[in-house]
Amino acid sequence: MADVELDGVTKIYAGGVQAVAPTNLSIGDGEFVVLVGPSGCGKSTLLRMIAGLETISGGTLKLDGKVVNNTPARDRDVAMVFQNYALYPHMTVRDNMAFALKMRHAPKAEIGSRVTEAAEMLGLTQYLERKPAALSGGQRQRVALGRAIVRHPKLFLFDEPLSNLDAKLRVSTRAELIRLHRRLKATMIYVTHDQTEAMSMGDRLVVLRDGTVQQVGTPLEIYNNPTNQFVAGFVGSPPMNFITCDVRRDGDSLRLVNESFDIPLDEKHRIALDARRDGTSIEQIVLGIRPEDIHERNDDNANREVANPFVDDAGDFVKTQVLFIEPLGSEVLATCALGDYEIVARLSPRTAARADAAIELKFDMTQAKLFEPATGATLG
Ligand SMILES: Nc1ncnc2c1ncn2[C@@H]1O[C@H](COP(=O)(O)OP(=O)(O)O)[C@@H](O)[C@H]1O
Ligand SMILES: [Mg+2]
Repeated sequence: MADVELDGVTKIYAGGVQAVAPTNLSIGDGEFVVLVGPSGCGKSTLLRMIAGLETISGGTLKLDGKVVNNTPARDRDVAMVFQNYALYPHMTVRDNMAFALKMRHAPKAEIGSRVTEAAEMLGLTQYLERKPAALSGGQRQRVALGRAIVRHPKLFLFDEPLSNLDAKLRVSTRAELIRLHRRLKATMIYVTHDQTEAMSMGDRLVVLRDGTVQQVGTPLEIYNNPTNQFVAGFVGSPPMNFITCDVRRDGDSLRLVNESFDIPLDEKHRIALDARRDGTSIEQIVLGIRPEDIHERNDDNANREVANPFVDDAGDFVKTQVLFIEPLGSEVLATCALGDYEIVARLSPRTAARADAAIELKFDMTQAKLFEPATGATLG
């Protein structure tokens, strides 16, 4: 088991590409942390520096309190599982799992018991004498996990290990990994570009963009309080809707206005905007509203949830045209035209919304986010 401490760790590849900007990050002993972000944002580079497979260009990396910047991978007591695990095709599952321990001349009895233990954990006991060619993709991926587990490393590193599995298997293997983490109580760092995977697995997420950490937090902290528009748009499916609006003062209140709508801003956001004005007035903002915070008119829930003592109910419905609906069973996603924007609302399966029909929507402004157009920073 291990804690991991990054202090200004950075990576500049030959040719001057800064793949990872100076990064500070503390990962506690036994934590399951997910590094998540779009392709090319530096996830693998960060993980490979922790593994010792990539040199560190600057900063300090500590494992268990010891600086390991120059410690070779084999001496870091870290096991890494990749997307493209290469099993030895001529060896049985048992020998594949035992290989690393054999190379280290571990006692035979111990190798045997560790392989048995890992095989049991992963449901591979009955496949131990088979060769990889006689296994399904999911079973092979579990063998790759088994090879890491038998080593009893203090730190597990996973680089998109489930990407090659089909959707169903990915979900079940995900659950197995979470169980495994509970059971082993080891520190695990898991890389994925898939925000759903990240949300469902991590104790904490580290959201990366262009080599820079955007936000670190629990899945729900990040979902509910994204630090900027990038994070807000990256986490959540379907993603948050963004609409650029003018901010118009109307007596003591503020309204958000564009060609397609004119809605009052709730008290909480008005105060947040006023506080951020610092003399200069904010004329435009990006309104962010999640699909589940958009309700249909006449939806009983809408009126209850959206009740807002500071806003006159009149005039805060938005007229849209339904482009198409996706009935998913427990919910219906309606993609609606709002001027030049297409917004997605998550409606009840009992919705009356139909393609090509008009629909009136109500934004639950108490749940909305406001972003600064130039920087994407969350204003409130
Ligand atoms: N060996 C390398 N040499 C130069 N640039 C690299 C190398 N490996 C990765 N990069 C660049 O570093 C950035 C981050 O890559 P990577 O860490 O693989 O991202 P991710 O895993 O998030 O997709 C990318 O711009 C990529 O092109
Ligand atoms: Mg990668």
